[in-house]
Amino acid sequence: MLMALKLAHRASLMVLFLISTDKLHCSSVQVDPPEEIKIIDPGHLGYLEITWTLPSSLINIQECPISYQLEYYNAYTKSWDVIQTPQRTFRAQFDLTKDIRVRAYTLLGGRCANNTWIKSANYKELVQKPPGTGRHVNAVKEFRFVFYNLEQMICNWNKDPNAPASSQLHMYYWHNELEKTEECPQYLFTNEVRTGCNLTGKRFPDFTDVNFCVNGSSPEGPLKPTYASLQIQNYVKPDRPDKLNLLTGRFGEIKLFWKKPDGKVPGHCLEWEVERIREGPHGKNESRIFTMHTRLTLPAVGHKERNCFTIRTRLHKYCAEGSFWSEWSPKTCHTGGSKYDG
Ligand SMILES: *[C@@H]1O[C@H](CO)[C@@H](O)[C@H](O)[C@H]1NC(C)=O
Ligand SMILES: *[C@@H]1O[C@H](CO)[C@@H](O)[C@H](O)[C@H]1NC(C)=O
Repeated sequence: MLMALKLAHRASLMVLFLISTDKLHCSSVQVDPPEEIKIIDPGHLGYLEITWTLPSSLINIQECPISYQLEYYNAYTKSWDVIQTPQRTFRAQFDLTKDIRVRAYTLLGGRCANNTWIKSANYKELVQKPPGTGRHVNAVKEFRFVFYNLEQMICNWNKDPNAPASSQLHMYYWHNELEKTEECPQYLFTNEVRTGCNLTGKRFPDFTDVNFCVNGSSPEGPLKPTYASLQIQNYVKPDRPDKLNLLTGRFGEIKLFWKKPDGKVPGHCLEWEVERIREGPHGKNESRIFTMHTRLTLPAVGHKERNCFTIRTRLHKYCAEGSFWSEWSPKTCHTGGSKYDG
């Protein structure tokens, strides 16, 4: 079965085609993969341009459309991405600390392929090793980015303990509105070592990848850089909410209501987690309630029972793919019908 399929696939690549009545000739078309693949690095921290060339066997084919299938290994998702394009160039984000692997097939269509597309049996492959052989020591470990309350943009990293004490660290970033990479405008220090960068006030486009690199130099030579590529709207950490307000209703029910943190984070984007700690004659128990609203009503509780509440918030999935939880608000407590803060 497999063998037969393979043969059929092979056979389909050698196609007889008839040119319209005025140009009557018969020929078979062998679809070859692109001849050469090149990678151009414009210095945008992993956003590379890939170009390839038409196979010479197809240079004289004018009557049929030619397209390409490009497959490249996405080191971030750890899978192959596949695209088709009639162009001979494509840009994509790569992790420069890993091998870059690209494969290109040729696709031939139109009359030459009986109005479907034929893909070349083989692909042209390019594998490029990361630059910097000999750079064994990393500049940093654990690169973190947090966009506090959509106001303060902070990157942090830990210097690799194996890096020489005298090494100097640098952070660079790039996104598609910048012509060149820019260096961190304001470094943050821990014990006189650069361990972070304050990017507050810099304009970053939403829903666009921003590339970061932390590299370093030392008397023993350059250190191995660390790269990150991320979209800033997915790294928001809202401010800690104020403590929630509490009222006892006419029937003893507990009414909770609260406000979104001040600032630019839109209220409709926030989801809330309310933590409830109940302490009564039967012991203590904790529960969590998730809501998109800023109010909540809970059934009446027994006279001897004490309830304490605290809330935290983050951006909901429909506003951003990711978000950090805020810190927990201060507690508000309630005992048997009357309210007090504790
Ligand atoms: C071309 O396609 C038509 C319709 O799909 C089919 O009937 C015909 O046999 C094909 N010709 C060749 C040479 O494959
Ligand atoms: C660090 O990266 C920047 C931006 O790519 C580059 O200009 C610089 O030469 C690099 N420094 C070292 C020590 O590798």
